[in-house]
Parts: sequence; C-alpha cells; structure tokens
Amino acid sequence: MRLSSEERAQYDRDGFLVLTGFVETSSCDRLRARAEALVQDFDASGVVSIFSTHEQSRLTDDYFLTSGDKIRFFFEEDAFLPDGTLKHGKENSINKIGHALHDLDPVFSKFSRTPDLVQLVADLGIERPLLLQGMYIFKQAKIGAKVTCHQDSTFLYNVPIDIVGLWFALEDATLENGCLWAIPGGHKLGLKSRWLRSAEGGMKFEVFDSSPWPEEKLVPLEVPKGSLIILNGLLPHKSLANRSTKSRHAYTLHVIGGSSHCPESNWLRRTPELPLRGFD
Ligand code: FE2
Repeated sequence: MRLSSEERAQYDRDGFLVLTGFVETSSCDRLRARAEALVQDFDASGVVSIFSTHEQSRLTDDYFLTSGDKIRFFFEEDAFLPDGTLKHGKENSINKIGHALHDLDPVFSKFSRTPDLVQLVADLGIERPLLLQGMYIFKQAKIGAKVTCHQDSTFLYNVPIDIVGLWFALEDATLENGCLWAIPGGHKLGLKSRWLRSAEGGMKFEVFDSSPWPEEKLVPLEVPKGSLIILNGLLPHKSLANRSTKSRHAYTLHVIGGSSHCPESNWLRRTPELPLRGFD
C-alpha cells in the first residue's frame, strides 16, 4: 500500500489525510479486545483516589508525567460521583491508556509495526522513524470528555518539528460520538505554544502566538471503523464531548524523524532502559 502523489499533495495542503479501510476490521477488534483485557487487569483502587481528588493535583501530574515509558490508565473527568467513587465500572470510566503501549504491549507493538505503516511513514518523508507515543482513547459513551483545539506538537515537541500522528478509528467516528474536527491548512499557521516542564516543577505553556484559533474553519472528520487519519503535528484539531450511547475508541501512534531532537523539558521522557525504537 503506497500513498499516491495526489494523496501526498492533499496531506501537504490540508495537514491531514483520511485513508478509509487502512486497517482490517479484525485488527481493530483485536486491539479493542487487548485494551479491554488491560483495563480488566488494572487495579483501579489505588488510582481512583488520586484522580477523584482533583484532576490538576500534584499526584495526578506525577502519575501522568512519568507515564511516557509506561502503560497507565487515565479516567474520564465525569466518571466519578461526588464521594469519589466510580459511577460505572472501570471499563466504562477510563478516558485513555498511555503512553508506551506500542513498546510495552506485544499486541499493540504488532499493530504499530506493520509493513503498511513502514511504507506509509516513508511516503510521508519521515526518515529513520522512531515511535514516540502510543495511546488508546476510549471516548466513552455519555461521559467522553471534549478535547479543546490544539496542535500535537505543543505536547510532543521536537526540533526540527518532524512528527506525524496516526489516528486509527477502531469504531465508527461520527458527529454524535465525538469525531475529530480539523482546520484544513491550519498546519501552516505555525506552532502557537509549547507545554514544557517548569523549573519550579510541574508544567507550563510557553506561548508564541496568543491569537485564538479560527475555529469557524474546523471541519468534522467522520470516518468508519478501520480508517486511518494522518495528522501533521502542527494541524489544529479538536473533538467534542461524547454524549451519545456509543463509544468512539481510537488508537493513536506518533512517529518522529530520527534526526530530530526531543528536549529534556518535554513531558514525555524515556529512561535509558527503554530507548525509542523504530518499526523494527
Ligand atoms: Fe491531538
């Protein structure tokens, strides 16, 4: 499977490209089943208290900030009752699993390292690719939180900026269940901000351009299960809350060029025991 020159031109123009039918339905189901099994094995008792206190708490930050080379579970904001217990079972409460699924879990590793992806990333011009982040997003029915308009390079910054986001629809993504929205051509607006570690501990934003996003230009990207949406790291995108009765599971994989540099001040860090790997 190769990108045509038209598809490549479209990606360069819009900053995104939708490839329907990129992944077999059976592969989507295998990944969903694996995510389900990981959640079943996850002991939520210790983490519920951390997340029920406050989402900005110091403990939550540490749990997140040290998850770059682990498999960790993050709850939906609206998953909790006022007393801090879960409204529903943990399988219907998790917002996402991150952020090294692609290296630490064999099923996710296999899904993330197919010949089709090797070819695709080469066709996108990423040289000596390294797999930076693998994340499973649930967008739960009823309580799936919105994601505000952002550029992935704000959070996964590298110099020079050389990153592509691969967004796999493991279920149909529709207007009702919170599909992605993107600003066609918005990747040409430049990087607006960067999220980095502050000297005092915790994180801060460094703002390069404080003008608001032209959100009236956002278009919905409704895609069927098995689709791949390729996202330029600079492309502004968002998703709305899911208040429907259907979840909207997706897997995202971020790939960087091997000669780019990820500063130490990025939130995502890898220990020397688990260096970044490519497709091999
Ligand atoms: Fe994103």
